[in-house]
Amino acid sequence: MAPVCGIVGYVGARQAQPIIIGGLKRMEYRGYDSAGIALWTPDGLETRKRAGKLVRLEAELADRPLPESRQGIGHTRWATHGGPTDQNAHPHLSGDGRVAVVHNGIIENAAILRRELEAEGVVFRSQTDTEAVAHLLRRALDQEPGLAAALRAVCRRLEGTFTLVVLDAAQPGRIAAARRSSPLVVGVGQDENFLASDVASFIEHTRHAIELGQDQVVEITADTVTVTTFDGDPAPVKPYDIEWDLAAAEKGGFDWFMRKEIFEQPQAASDTLLGRIDQSGRLCLDELRIDRAQLRAADKIVIVACGTAYHAGLIAKYAIEHWTRVPCEVELASEFRYRDPIVTPTTLVVAISQSGETMDTLMALRHAREQHAQVVAICNTNGATIPRESDAVIYTHAGPEIGVASTKCFTAQIIACYLLGLFLAQERGTKFGDEIAELVADLTAVPAQMAALLADLGPIDALAQELVGVESVLFIGRHVGYPVALEGALKLKEISYLHAEGFAAGELKHGPIALVEPGLPVFVVVPPTGRDHLHDKVVSNIQEIRARGAKTIVLAERNDAEAWAQADHAIPLPLAPTLFQPLLAIIPLQYFSCQMATLKGLDVDQPRNLAKSVTVE
Ligand code: F6R
Repeated sequence: MAPVCGIVGYVGARQAQPIIIGGLKRMEYRGYDSAGIALWTPDGLETRKRAGKLVRLEAELADRPLPESRQGIGHTRWATHGGPTDQNAHPHLSGDGRVAVVHNGIIENAAILRRELEAEGVVFRSQTDTEAVAHLLRRALDQEPGLAAALRAVCRRLEGTFTLVVLDAAQPGRIAAARRSSPLVVGVGQDENFLASDVASFIEHTRHAIELGQDQVVEITADTVTVTTFDGDPAPVKPYDIEWDLAAAEKGGFDWFMRKEIFEQPQAASDTLLGRIDQSGRLCLDELRIDRAQLRAADKIVIVACGTAYHAGLIAKYAIEHWTRVPCEVELASEFRYRDPIVTPTTLVVAISQSGETMDTLMALRHAREQHAQVVAICNTNGATIPRESDAVIYTHAGPEIGVASTKCFTAQIIACYLLGLFLAQERGTKFGDEIAELVADLTAVPAQMAALLADLGPIDALAQELVGVESVLFIGRHVGYPVALEGALKLKEISYLHAEGFAAGELKHGPIALVEPGLPVFVVVPPTGRDHLHDKVVSNIQEIRARGAKTIVLAERNDAEAWAQADHAIPLPLAPTLFQPLLAIIPLQYFSCQMATLKGLDVDQPRNLAKSVTVE
């Protein structure tokens, strides 16, 4: 896994240092292992950088304060080329210290560039791929005095993915940046402008932003923003206003963003439903700007995604096939593109991504588009690369998700997929209008059911207390309960560092049941009672593991007496149709992992080795 770094640039009327450090703090959730800052001063560029978290950089700034400056760049780095040391932290300077560069992504031809520069006598001070850019830029400035022009010349030589933000000591009041595949947005203020990998870093200063496209260079001063292509042609500028406010990017009284985001699920779910269903229960997905005839002609749906988004896709498959009768495959984006998948112009590809920047998912969608498939993105981040490159997008309106472990976006992604599935059923006539209206009524009841569930999580606190010392936990489920089990296990792995596995309950006897020993906690997601034949099979599975000494933690409808008879711990769920149950059943599992990690004293929002968006392969 490789990561995304955080980048901030500021030029304007105010002191740059607090704005840059504040901006980096708002991106801490993305994961990083060193940090640095460079400021412009009349005597040249001044930098400070430190391995470790921002507090170490702040301590360094307290020991060796920087002079006042109204212009600078900052960076949080997640190490790829070269370990997380002070030397490898960004910004990187040219040999004479005239230019400073921060970078997110991977320069694939860095080794060749380095050899070439070293042959010319350049001495490198770090092991990073980024430093070559600083030296190249310095050289380019001798040929092309303008900062943006010199940066464009450098970009034309770079291979790989990058966001670069650069300062030149000889060009006060100006910052330039370049973007290929990695994220970068411009924040437009009053007598000040910002650059950042994420709007969260400048949302407290301005809600006006400009999206940058692929292979574009931007130069900002306090009152201008100039965007060009790598070839120097003017590029159209796409301004937009950020809908959410600062409060959404703050913890609001919760100890962790993750916990806050778990509790935001009713809101995220109802905001994602909002405006997409009319009074009579018909779906109106106006944003789905794909020719209706093409939607009707689609003969296969392929969902591509990674991690939690992939689990959302696995759940959606059950509903989409059931409602539309169109075959639906779900594939890990990282596998999809390397196996020559069968994708044709009549395939509808659905790319699910919270960040909209996940490189594997982006590459999968590019591959699909090359085969002339129609691509719909399901995304939470306005203007991100994945929606920009798709034929259409259904945004999840979950608000910013800051905790590294995805929670509210998971449920919002399922809802967005369900809206798409119901819309396709409506268009293709595979469900009658009154059937769709009935399903819609059940779906719109979910946010209130989520809220009821969230109001009663006390028993999970007690359960986490009891289980905090365990080393291994299993999760089982059938049908849509199976991906819920996978997601419950993923949450526990990534936040609590526990060995956790999710299994299809029916598969247990084919191997995994050998893992069951006395005292092993096993969470079981039990389908609704009533006409659902799956229910009894899962109850039998509980009996099988219980007979072998497992401690059963059973999630089932609150009136499910058969399931309760097999439960060492009971987690009651509101009554909902089978296909909608995952939207509820996942909540106690998310909360359990958050609670376990808290009790273990771990950093819930920034688990080790993980980054929020994974913008390189
Ligand atoms: C797990 C988690 C990851 C992401 C995955 C895809 O909690 O957050 O597994 O789901 O990296 O990220 P997006 O949705 O941004 O494409």
